[in-house]
This record gives sequence, structure tokens and C-alpha cells, in this order.
Amino acid sequence: MKTFYIETFGCQMNAHDSEKVIGTLLSQGYQKVETPEEAELVFYNTCSIRDKAEQKVFHRLQQFKKEHGKGKTFAVLGCVAQQEGERIFEKAPHVSLVCGSASYNKLPEMLVQLESGNRRVTGLSLDTEDTFETPMTRRDNPHRAYITIIEGCDKSCAYCVVPFTRGPERSRTSASVMSETLELARAGYSEIQLLGQNVNSYRDPSPAGWDFATLLDNVGRVQGIRRVRFTTSHPRDFRKSIIDAIDGNTALCNHVHLPVQSGSSRILAAMQRLYTRDEYMERIRWMKASPRAIAITSDIIVGFPGETEEDFEATLGLLDEVEYDSIFSFKYSRRPNTSALALDDQIAEEEKVRRLTIVQERQRGIQIRRNAAYLGSVEECMVEGFNKATSQWIGRTSQNKTLNFLRPGRDEDLTGHYLEVRVTRAGPNSLVGEAVN
Ligand code: SAH
Ligand code: SF4
Ligand code: F3S
Repeated sequence: MKTFYIETFGCQMNAHDSEKVIGTLLSQGYQKVETPEEAELVFYNTCSIRDKAEQKVFHRLQQFKKEHGKGKTFAVLGCVAQQEGERIFEKAPHVSLVCGSASYNKLPEMLVQLESGNRRVTGLSLDTEDTFETPMTRRDNPHRAYITIIEGCDKSCAYCVVPFTRGPERSRTSASVMSETLELARAGYSEIQLLGQNVNSYRDPSPAGWDFATLLDNVGRVQGIRRVRFTTSHPRDFRKSIIDAIDGNTALCNHVHLPVQSGSSRILAAMQRLYTRDEYMERIRWMKASPRAIAITSDIIVGFPGETEEDFEATLGLLDEVEYDSIFSFKYSRRPNTSALALDDQIAEEEKVRRLTIVQERQRGIQIRRNAAYLGSVEECMVEGFNKATSQWIGRTSQNKTLNFLRPGRDEDLTGHYLEVRVTRAGPNSLVGEAVN
């Protein structure tokens, strides 16, 4: 029996792809090991979203080859595999398999080719209408499960590699998503996270024809499912019906991740995001008007080509206006194939660093204020684990906030349980509390 090791970089979609790849390998008779040293086959499931992410895998490949590479077979999966294709064989000649996410259905055949001694096996076609579905998925978490509902992306944001690395949009049928949800609920999962680069452009390809809000609502009505989350939403396709679904179904978590990228309509146009600041703010107002106290989070890019001080100020102003619960913020990174490569007026690295620091400081102040508002309130937490160093249970609220708490005098494992917790302290990134009896 052959042994394999897999390391995963990048987003939740990649994490879930790895769960499906692992299931596929196990079903082909391979055995999973926990270190690359023990493995005969070493897989890297890679990310190319920013230059730093891409460099990581080449660094791993070089470093590992020198130390323990002898006799092992290396495979590069995911977004760098798709983007670099056969060039990977030149950059890292000890790699034998290069396969993008749109070709994972063909992994079993490719493994046979590898076994028969082929040292240049590729899966690089993006010309597909298939999604990668397998009954073998080997999930990491016994309580919370990912389900991919749509793959690829049909947008063309000027900075982004994803349309090139994951191919065109393909939605799964609603029947297939519902049957996976039912199965997971029966197996004891209580939280579902629906995944896609752009979940709200979900379009059921079957005659049922469900849109995203309908799918979301139905997943949340499956018996045993207590929480449903979804990422990521593109503002352009974000409909009011999603908020209506959340208002009418408490199993749908009151959290929406709606990446804005910039607060300047001029930069949004240059990024080809297909919405203006005002259109984005209209969606924010829908959420703020909801009785469910929806937490709102976002992604921000600073230093996009041509971003002036005034544009940047507009982003800071937007942070103040929305008051996000948290954000991910990034310095713009030039990426292969993207249309922004051709833009003049690149922003200097030191200036990007300066803007990023200012964004993060501004947001930190907002989070301190927002989190302080939870002092004294009681929140339902899903328990994710126990922190021995602090003797605290690690909980997550419906709004996706970390709420660490004490529960004295009990030592049974609470992981996966739902408890009511009173908030006693608030920091910029998490809350602390005590379980309510
Ligand atoms: N599909 C999601 C985004 C996936 S990528 C969406 O449309 O929102 C996650 C985040 O990485 C993006 O929201 C963006 O903020 C950031 N990102 C993508 N490309 C980038 C680049 N070239 N440089 C810096 N940040 C980037
Ligand atoms: Fe990238 Fe834009 Fe597609 Fe998101 S919507 S994956 S940022 S191209
Ligand atoms: Fe990275 Fe690909 Fe996800 S580029 S962020 S792993 S879609």
C-alpha cells in the first residue's frame, strides 16, 4: 500500500478540495500519513492569490528535495498547478504530477499513469462543465462540514487569478447539495458551510432552478442542521432575498462576508468590480435593517495601481461608515494573466505597507468599540475545542466571533456542543465569557 502526505495552502475551497482528494486517494487504496518524511507520495495543494502564496510552494519543493526528496514522488495540485502548468516540471524537475482543481475527477486515472512510471502526468484542461463530487470525502472536522455549491468564477476582477486557475462557473444541482446535507446531518454534523468563489451567482442547473437564497433556506431547514454559513459573496450578485432568508430562518448564521476591496468608486471601476460605492452601501443598509443583528466582514486591497491618497481616504471613510466586525486586508500583488498587469502607476511597496498599517489600525479601533457592545450579553456558542494553556473552552458565535469561556467544575468534552455564554470581557479580536447554567 502506498503512503501519501498532503499539505494545503490557500482558501476554504482548497481546504475542502483536499478533503475530497484525500477521500479519493483513500478509496484508491492509498494510506494517509502525517509527515512528508514518511510518505512515498507528497502532495501540495497550492494557492496563487498573491505572489507570496505562490512562492511558498516553490520554497517547499526546493527545501524538501534537498533534505528528504530521495525516492519520493511529488505532486502539485490547485491554483499554482493550473497557472504554471508544465512550467512546474522545469522549475522543479522532481515533480511528477501537475493537476488543477478542474481536473480532480481524473485523479484516479492520473494515479494509474504515475504508478506505471510516467513522470510527467498533467491534468490542466479548464474546458469542463463538471464539478468535483465524491461520496468519499474525508472531512477534518466531525461537527462542521464544507459543501462546495459552485466552482470557478465568471467575473474578471482586474487583479485576480481565480478565473484563470479555477475556470468557468459551474453550479451543482440542488438535489446533489441537499442529499449531501441530509447525509451529513444523519452523520451528526450540525454546521454546514456552503462554498464558492461567488456563491450568490449559484444557479441550479436542474429543472428545479433554485437560486442561492432558495438553496440556502432549504439547507437551513434540514433537521439536525443548526448553523449554515456561506462564503464568498460578490456584492454585484448579492440580492435582498438572501437577507430575507436569514431573517426568516434562525439556522442561517447572522454573518455575511461581503468583500468591498475599495471605498473609492473610481478604483472599483478600475478593478472591474461591477458596483459603485453607493450600490455596495445599499446592500449594507439591507443588512443593518435586519432584526438579526447581522455581523458584516470584508476584504480590502490597498495600493491598487493608480490609488491616490484621496481614494485611500475613501476606503478609510467606508470602514468608519460600515463598521465591519472584521476585515482581511491585503497589499495589492501583481499577478500573471490579470488585466491589471498592464496598468501603469504602480504604488511603491513602502507606500502599500504604510496604507495597510493605517487600514489595520483604523479597523482595530472599530473592532474594540464593536466588541465592547457585547459586554453582558448572552450568546449561543458552538464549542470548537479546549485551550489547555488558558483552561478556556473555545466557542464560536453565530456572528462568527470567537468567544472563549470558562465552565468550572465540569470536565466532559464539550466540543461540538452548543452552549449559552455570557460575555464578560471584550478585545479587538475575540470575546471572553462564562457559560450560563
Ligand atoms: N471570490 C472572492 C475572493 C477570493 S480571493 C470575492 O470575489 O470576494 C480573496 C481575497 O483576496 C479577495 O477578496 C481580495 O481581497 C484578495 N486578493 C485577490 N487577488 C489579490 C491580489 N492580486 N492582490 C492582493 N489581494 C488580492
Ligand atoms: Fe477573483 Fe473577482 Fe472572481 Fe472573486 S469575483 S474570485 S475577486 S475574479
Ligand atoms: Fe488561492 Fe486558489 Fe483559493 S488562488 S485563495 S487557493 S481559489
